[in-house]
Amino acid sequence: ETGESISRSEGHELAARFYHHVLMNTEQGKQAYDYLEARGITAELMERFQLGFSPDQPEVLKGLLDKRGFDLEQMEEQGLLYRQESSGELRDRFRNRIMFPIRDLRGRTVGFGGRTLGGAEPKYLNSPDSALFHKNELLYGFDVARKAVRRENTAVLFEGYSDVIAANKAGVDNGLASLGTSLTDRQAQIIRRNTERIIICYDGDNAGQEAAWRAGEVLEKQGLNVEAAMLPAQTDPDDYIQMHGMDRFQKEIIETALPFMSFKIQALKKDKNLQDEGDKLRYIEEVLKEMTALSRAVERDFYLRQLADEFSLSLDALKQEQYRIYKDKG
Ligand code: UTP
Ligand code: MN
Ligand code: MN
Ligand code: MN
Ligand code: MN
Repeated sequence: ETGESISRSEGHELAARFYHHVLMNTEQGKQAYDYLEARGITAELMERFQLGFSPDQPEVLKGLLDKRGFDLEQMEEQGLLYRQESSGELRDRFRNRIMFPIRDLRGRTVGFGGRTLGGAEPKYLNSPDSALFHKNELLYGFDVARKAVRRENTAVLFEGYSDVIAANKAGVDNGLASLGTSLTDRQAQIIRRNTERIIICYDGDNAGQEAAWRAGEVLEKQGLNVEAAMLPAQTDPDDYIQMHGMDRFQKEIIETALPFMSFKIQALKKDKNLQDEGDKLRYIEEVLKEMTALSRAVERDFYLRQLADEFSLSLDALKQEQYRIYKDKG
C-alpha cells in the first residue's frame, strides 16, 4: 500500500455525497433538515457547503464503501470507519450527526465535523488526523471564501462552522474558521498568503475573547494586520445574525471591529475597576506592556497619548514607565 493511495480523497468525496443525499432527499434526513431550516440555513446554503446527515446506523457508509470497492482498512486509517472494541468490527464513525465536510483549498473533501442532533457528546465530532486530514493546516470554509478573501484583501475568522455559514448568508463571503483548536502558525501562514488583513470574530464569551487574543498574536506574528470584532457576552456570530439580522451584523459588528491593540486595551479594562487606584496602576502597566509589541513609532505615540489623556498623566511619566518595562524585558 503506497503512501499516495492513503492520502487520496475519493472515500471522503463519496461519503460527502452520500451524507448530502440523505439530508436533502430522504425521510431519514428530515429531522436534520428541519433543524437546519429552523436555524435559518436554507437549501441553497446546504448546497454551497454540501451539508449532510449521517444516519443512525452502524454500517451504512461502510456498506457503501465496500460495495464501491474501497479498501476498508484504509477508510479506517482515514477516519471514516473505526474498529469497535467489543465486536472487533469496523463501524461508521459518524452516526446521527449533521455533517460539515471540511475541504482543502483545492476543494477536495478531506475530513468532517459532525454535530450531534441528539445531544450526544462531544457536540462536534471531528475527523482524526491522518495522511489525508491535517487539522493544523486546514481552515473551514476557505475553499468557498478564497476568491472573496483575495478580492477584498480581508478575511473574517470565526470559531464555528455554523458562524461561517450564517455569515455567508449575511453577505460576509470571506469567512473562515479554525477547526475547534487554537489557531496554528501554519494556518496563519496560509491565511497570510491570501490576504494582508484579517478580522477576528470569535464568540462573545470569555473563552472566545481569550482565544481571540491568542489568535491575534499568532496572526500578527505572520505579518497580518489584525482587527477584532466584539460581540455581546454569551452571543456568537450565528446567534447575533439570527437575533438582529444581517444588516446589523455588518454595520455593528464587522464594520466596528477594532485594531488589535484597541481590542486588547478594551479587554484589559474588563476585569478592573478604574476608580480604584491599584487597578488603575495595574491597567496602565499592562497597556504599556502590550504597547511594546507595536513596531511603528507612530502607533506607539498614538496609544501613549490616548493613555495620557484618559488618566490625565504626562507623556513624560508614561514614557519613563515604558522605558522601565522595555529594560525589564531585556
Ligand atoms: P461552539 O461550541 O461555539 O459551537 O464551538 P457552535 O459552532 O456555536 O455550534 P452550535 O451553534 O451550537 O451548533 C465552536 C467550534 O469549536 C469546534 C467546532 O468547530 C465548533 O464549530 N468544536 C466545538 C469542536 O470541534 N468540538 C466540540 O465538541 C465543540
Ligand atoms: Mn445537492
Ligand atoms: Mn464557543
Ligand atoms: Mn459558538
Ligand atoms: Mn453557535
